[in-house]
This record gives sequence, structure tokens and C-alpha cells, in this order.
Amino acid sequence: MSAPVAAPAAPATPVVEIRDLATVFGTGAQAFSVHEHLNLTVQRGELLSLVGGSGTGKTVLLRHILGLTEPTRGTVTVLGRPARELGGDGASSRVGMLFQHGALFTAFSVLDNVAFALYELRTLPRALAQEVAMVKLRMVGLKPEHALRMPADLSGGMIKRVALARALVMDPPLLLLDEPTAGLDPNGSDEFCDLLRELHATLGLTVIMVTHDLDTLYALSTKVAVLAEKHVIAHAPAVEVAQLEHPFVEHFFRGQRGLRAMAPAPTAPTRAEES
Ligand SMILES: Nc1ncnc2c1ncn2[C@@H]1O[C@H](COP(=O)(O)OP(=O)(O)OP(=O)(O)O)[C@@H](O)[C@H]1O
Ligand SMILES: [Mg+2]
Repeated sequence: MSAPVAAPAAPATPVVEIRDLATVFGTGAQAFSVHEHLNLTVQRGELLSLVGGSGTGKTVLLRHILGLTEPTRGTVTVLGRPARELGGDGASSRVGMLFQHGALFTAFSVLDNVAFALYELRTLPRALAQEVAMVKLRMVGLKPEHALRMPADLSGGMIKRVALARALVMDPPLLLLDEPTAGLDPNGSDEFCDLLRELHATLGLTVIMVTHDLDTLYALSTKVAVLAEKHVIAHAPAVEVAQLEHPFVEHFFRGQRGLRAMAPAPTAPTRAEES
């Protein structure tokens, strides 16, 4: 009797699948296109850095994935369903987003900012929603005593952490980060990278991160996608993308900043060098 033949494993559903997407803003003579024939597939567990010049449509693309906006043409599928079905307060149970400009509610405490999406859902009593929010605050390295502070009383790094806790409040499998380390000093940026790496690993998240910061990109990415000429021109590990012959890639990865980010970290100066 012959041995049973194992059925071939079904290909895993990508977490994000974008097909032939186009985005046009304005009408008539004012119309201008941001994306054309853009394709991108993000597999489960990837931590994808999305890079491209300013104004190339990175934030617009994240908003399409979040279901906040719809492209002019093409499809955006998230976990097998059209992104537009996600609806969009930015904290759905499928996609969490850390917005480019922090965007905490200034009139709400830290705790209420994190619990906000749960209050809106009205499926949990308020006290339970706050307990969930406390767990998320601990998860991003904040202490219980930070919970009642107002956003204006927080450091830049703490604001990012609160925004991250808010994005994760409903345990989404997909996290979108728009410039998560922008505005942080090198120390704050390193700490935030460590936190993101840990959460990506322990929560099994799929992450799409827009960044201009090469240190962050090299520290975290499993892959890099380059947005140029209105579509994704490359999607590969950072070391491969960095070798491409393309003006943006050359400037971004092989300019002064790029070479610094790729170089091994300098060793601590000795006393003689310091004096
Ligand atoms: N709602 C909108 N209506 C009209 N134009 C828009 C709208 N949203 C974005 N744009 C335009 O689309 C283009 C892409 O914007 P987007 O914010 O995605 O750029 P970006 O790649 O995120 O840039 P940056 O790196 O500076 O954040 C810009 O020219 C912007 O002005
Ligand atoms: Mg942007």
C-alpha cells in the first residue's frame, strides 16, 4: 500500500494585499495622481519599513490600509477582507495605527486616551475598559502613576508610548506606524525601537512602518518597500534594497546618513581620547 500523500499546505493569506492601486486627488485641471499601478503584499509576521521621499504618498497609503480613505482604483485587502469594511476610528480590532503627529486627545487623561476606543464600543463597562487600558500602558513601559496625567505633561517619548498603547488597545494583529521615532532624541529613539522589537516578537504582530530614520529601519525591518514614481519599486530585505541603482535609494541609503547608519557603532572612547 502506498503511503498517503500529504495535501499541499494552503498558501497563507497575506495580511495586506494591495492590487493595482491608484490614488487621484482633485478634479479637472487640478487633478493630480499620487499612486499608480501600486502593488504590495505583506505576509504575516513581517516588519516592513515603507520609505520614499516626502509627499510620495506613504501616509495616504497607510490611510487606505486602515480603511479611513478609499483609493480611486484598485483593491486593498486586509486579512482577506476589503479594507473599506474596517471602518475607521484608527483603533479597530484588526488594525492599530500610530499616527504621524501623535494625535492624542489633549483634553483627556492618558488612561482615557488609551481606553477611548473601548468606551466608544460600549461593550465593556467603563471600569473594565480602564483595566484593559492599564494593561496596555504597562505593556508599553509606562507606570500606573502616568495614567492620570494629561498629554501636555508628557515627554515626547511618553506621548509615543501612549499613542502605541492606544493603537494596541484592541489587540489588532496588524500595526501601522507613521514615523514612530520622528522627533525623539537618539536615546528615546533607541528605547522606542527596543519596545517595538519586543512587541513585534511577543505579540506576533505584522507591522508596516513609515520611516525616514535609517537607524530605526536597520534596527527593526524584516523587509523594506520603496515608494517612488507612484508605486512600490522594490520590496526586499534592507541590505538588498540599499544596493539598488535608483536616485532615491542612492541618496537615502548611500548618502552620508545612510553610510553612518550602516557603519558599526563606535566603541566607547577611552579616558585618553576624552581628555
Ligand atoms: N486629502 C487630501 N486631499 C488632497 N491631497 C492630499 C490629501 N491627502 C494627501 N494629499 C497629497 O498627497 C500627497 C502625498 O501625501 P502623504 O501625506 O501621503 O505624503 P508622505 O509620503 O506621507 O509625505 P511625508 O514623508 O512628508 O509625511 C501630497 O502631495 C499631499 O499633499
Ligand atoms: Mg507622511
